[in-house]
Amino acid sequence: MAVASIKEIKQKALEELKAISDLSQLSEYRVKYLGKKGVITLALKALKDLPPEERRILGAELNELKDFLEERLDSLKRELLLAEEDRLTDFDITLPGRRPEIGTLHPLTKTIREICDIFLRLGFEIVSGPEVESDYYNFTALNIPEWHPARDMQATFYLENGALLRTHTSPIQIRTMLQRTPPIRIIAPGKVYRCDADVRHSPMFHQIEGLMVDSDVSFADLKGILTYFAKETFGERTKVRFRPSYFPFTEPSLEMDISCVICDGEGCRVCSNTGWIEILGAGMVHPEVFRAVNYDTEKWQGFAFGLGVERITMLKYGIDDIRLFYDNHLYFLDSFKTL
Ligand code: DAH
Repeated sequence: MAVASIKEIKQKALEELKAISDLSQLSEYRVKYLGKKGVITLALKALKDLPPEERRILGAELNELKDFLEERLDSLKRELLLAEEDRLTDFDITLPGRRPEIGTLHPLTKTIREICDIFLRLGFEIVSGPEVESDYYNFTALNIPEWHPARDMQATFYLENGALLRTHTSPIQIRTMLQRTPPIRIIAPGKVYRCDADVRHSPMFHQIEGLMVDSDVSFADLKGILTYFAKETFGERTKVRFRPSYFPFTEPSLEMDISCVICDGEGCRVCSNTGWIEILGAGMVHPEVFRAVNYDTEKWQGFAFGLGVERITMLKYGIDDIRLFYDNHLYFLDSFKTL
């Protein structure tokens, strides 16, 4: 071995050292130069064949190179390990974030809130009542005695103890009038139950009841307030019409229709080509109802109304199957996020 070849080894070793960029290259390098059959190890072994003077000089040089490389490789290994760790725990700040899924109000809740808001602006107050009702509040006090055929209009779920699931929100009228003295302006949203099920009917659905009692409430107030409600809910251009009807708890009774929201009154499938859609029942509070709550019929008059929340929501959004409200499929619920 000559001095020149040791210089060459050193030069190549230092050059290759600079090119190491990962841990596998580093261990290859260590084997190549410092392993059992490594370039430096073999060169050190070859020293024994040299004359003493040369052996001393070249030996010192080779050992110095070996020590230097060992130290360099150790520190380089630590650096590369740290870099690797960084790389694994690092995250790319340019990646778009994951949006948290945000829920939305159920369409029925939306409608209930919108309708309540309209009546709150008119000075009405929100009240509620129990879903398990007595026969008395649900029927009798509303002028629907035991023998009355109007009980057939509402297929009722009776409980074993004689109580029932309220078939409408009207019993809240009775409860409110018993608790308070006029003037009364209340609106009462809630669940009601009837033994009925198809694409338009569900055994549980929602109604909103309204009641206004004062010393000079007239049929004109009823028409004015319900017309305002219809235009606020379905749009300013909405037309309304009042048809005579029958409810045991009002006299006179009426049903209110709005001009069809789909065809604007032209006639279509939704309005059965009539151009009109029924949206609520109403009337002047029947004297028998006032008598049931001990109100002086000479002193007080009032009007009441009841509407179906599902029906109004279906009309507002063009939904044709009531069951969509209760299935809670996200694709259905999500479609109300932007509305
Ligand atoms: N309770 C009636 C029903 O469920 C709706 C109704 C009609 C309520 C007329 C009223 C009213 O307060 O005056 O069909």
